Amino acid sequence: MSTKRLRRRIAVLCLSAVTLTSTLGLLSGTASAEEFGPVQPKDVKPALADLGKRLFYDPRISGDTTASCSSCHKPEKAFTDGQALSDAYSGLKHFRNTPTLANVGHRSAWLHDGRLGTNLNDVTREMITETYLMNMDMRIMQERLKQDPVYVDMFKAAGLGEPSNGGARKAIQNFLKTITSKGSPFDQGTMSSGAKRGFELFKGRAGCASCHSGNRFTDDKPHNIGVPGNPEIWSNPERHTAFVTYAKFFGIPNYMNLREDLGAYLRTHRDEHRRSFLTPTLRELTYTAPYMHNGTFASLEDVIEFYNRGGGDDPNKDSGMKPLNLAPSQKQDLLEFLKALSGESFARDEYTLKDEIDTDYPVIAKWRKTPN
Ligand code: HEC
Ligand code: HEC
Repeated sequence: MSTKRLRRRIAVLCLSAVTLTSTLGLLSGTASAEEFGPVQPKDVKPALADLGKRLFYDPRISGDTTASCSSCHKPEKAFTDGQALSDAYSGLKHFRNTPTLANVGHRSAWLHDGRLGTNLNDVTREMITETYLMNMDMRIMQERLKQDPVYVDMFKAAGLGEPSNGGARKAIQNFLKTITSKGSPFDQGTMSSGAKRGFELFKGRAGCASCHSGNRFTDDKPHNIGVPGNPEIWSNPERHTAFVTYAKFFGIPNYMNLREDLGAYLRTHRDEHRRSFLTPTLRELTYTAPYMHNGTFASLEDVIEFYNRGGGDDPNKDSGMKPLNLAPSQKQDLLEFLKALSGESFARDEYTLKDEIDTDYPVIAKWRKTPN
């Protein structure tokens, strides 16, 4: 059937404009321009988001009060930490790269393996309570918050009543939803001619948009592109310990001897999902090096070389990953395009605290019996 006739038939079927666009996009093997556009801000309650912001920067919500969310998610790095592999709770190191929080409220699955796919509340709980992240007991967190008169006022103002665990997570979730990209050359229509050529390659011959689709440039799905393992996870006992804790908890067989990160396999336990990882957003890349779930690539140039080779060497690799044979000028265009997806820094008033958190308040002595 010709595309024209097909198009007419689809129109007759009265499919929505969105379905029409994506169906035609699928048929021609390229993404259509309409799919891409600025990320829309999410609706949040300002009083809740304000409270969430203070909690985000407060180290008292970690067990030993040494780490806040912002220890690993730094606003000046689009809420990443600039390291290949993240830090972790005192005495440990993490086995994954800290992902950006830009537009994180729009995702439909979270964490590099996509193991949390319901809501940001669950992700926040995982960050706070996981032993190798903030290692916090929620009941202790609640008592700490109830001691601080600023929190008592802020919880009330946000309509949450007394400080509570559920309220704290709800507030942090609201703050996370405020983190929205803006001001990139891509969104402002100020891309260089090189970046524009790069965008055409991206949608066309280079095939990037089949996974990096939509206005956040991700399908939120796991794929195997053959990213090599990071040996540091297995040679550093502090990282290996965190990894073993994780793999044991998720029932991965033979977790003591495992020397690879199995990614999305965790959810399905199906062999074909070994070493697939969630497609990351491509927004704010100039702030978020190094790249990939394990920080294996230091620069965007390295990433482009990797794709030009057809990705890595893996029996489960996605069939769409083929050598691209790009000319040096095309690699440069692609690079310029990727850079044009970064906007204003998040290190500005909207996303940071104006004043340091004041912890100089009198302790409530009979706190068990004292209501706020
Ligand atoms: C010790 C470092 C560290 C701390 C502290 C930390 N995170 Fe994370 N965060 C990470 C790492 C590493 C990942 C990816 C983990 C994975 O894939 O298993 C992550 C993932 C996330 C994600 C999912 C992003 C995505 O696109 O999938 C969100 C949301 C998030 N963190 C929010 C928070 C919040 C809110 C806090 C504070 C309550 C916090 N983080 C504290 C390191 C940290
Ligand atoms: C088959 C799906 C697929 C295709 C096609 C694809 N990617 Fe990716 N991309 C991914 C996945 C999955 C990751 C993350 C892998 C990981 O974490 O190990 C990724 C990671 C990246 C990253 C690193 C982002 C970060 O924050 O770590 C960049 C940059 C990138 N891709 C650009 C491109 C470009 C440019 C193309 C086209 C040449 C392309 N991708 C084609 C799925 C794909």
